[in-house]
Amino acid sequence: MYLLKLKGKVAIVTGGSRGIGFETAKILSENGATVVITSKNVKQLENASNQLTNVYPISADITEEEEVKTVVEKTIEKFGRLDILVNNAGIFPKIKQLHEISDLEWNEVLNVNLNGQFRFTKFSIPFLKKSSGTIVNVSSDAGLKAYEGFNADAYSASKAALIVLTKCWSLEYAKDRIRVNCVCPGVVDTDMTKPFLKTEKDREFMDNDHPIGRIGTPGDVAKSILFLASEDSSWTTGAILAVDGGQSTK
Ligand SMILES: NC(=O)c1ccc[n+]([C@@H]2O[C@H](COP(=O)([O-])OP(=O)(O)OC[C@H]3O[C@@H](n4cnc5c(N)ncnc54)[C@H](OP(=O)(O)O)[C@@H]3O)[C@@H](O)[C@H]2O)c1
Repeated sequence: MYLLKLKGKVAIVTGGSRGIGFETAKILSENGATVVITSKNVKQLENASNQLTNVYPISADITEEEEVKTVVEKTIEKFGRLDILVNNAGIFPKIKQLHEISDLEWNEVLNVNLNGQFRFTKFSIPFLKKSSGTIVNVSSDAGLKAYEGFNADAYSASKAALIVLTKCWSLEYAKDRIRVNCVCPGVVDTDMTKPFLKTEKDREFMDNDHPIGRIGTPGDVAKSILFLASEDSSWTTGAILAVDGGQSTK
């Protein structure tokens, strides 16, 4: 029998228009959830929701507090509850050494990858308290350790901060029965990593860099998000799960 793990649940997936967020919206909806996807690009977002069943688009720029608030309010207005928040939206900066990064570039990355997750979380908490809901943060291997030559310090800082915030929020809201967990993907085949996978040689290098012998698919990450969003992980909170073909263990 196929089990609908999320029947009756309502989820918000940030950055749901493509990549890991899109696959996450797909797997959550296939498991019975009603899913709101949100991102900045309206056309792409609508295109994404049109490909899925029981998935609804509400566009917002995660850097704008009022827009984030509106996504949560509209979700409640339309569906009456919120059970799952997947903090997934993110950007990757131009590769530069620290001394070459401007304040503007630094702040842009932090504003999306860290402050954006703060905004969605703070507006969602009152409703997650009511549903004893769950939050899944999408961090990165880059937040777990330093990689030589990676040179994306603002990105690493944002992802490391999200790891510690996962632990803070899990303790802060445990009494409200809100679980907060985190996944740390290695290199996943999405728009974000396209610049690093231009040639066969790039691809081969990246595949071999992961002990399991290949980079990840968005589905690899989405499946672990489903686990953390569902009752299958009901006794798990504050966990930081590497989903990376073993890359961070090297
Ligand atoms: N791909 C990897 O190898 C990898 C590895 C580790 C961690 N991650 C993390 O996984 C998450 C998803 O990555 P991905 O590879 O799926 O990325 P992606 O394909 O580039 O998608 C990024 C998503 O974030 C949204 N987004 C970006 N800026 C936004 C903003 N200001 N406001 C609202 N939405 C915004 C994008 O929507 P718009 O285009 O509409 O702005 C898009 O939906 C990110 O947090 C990333 O850091 C990825």
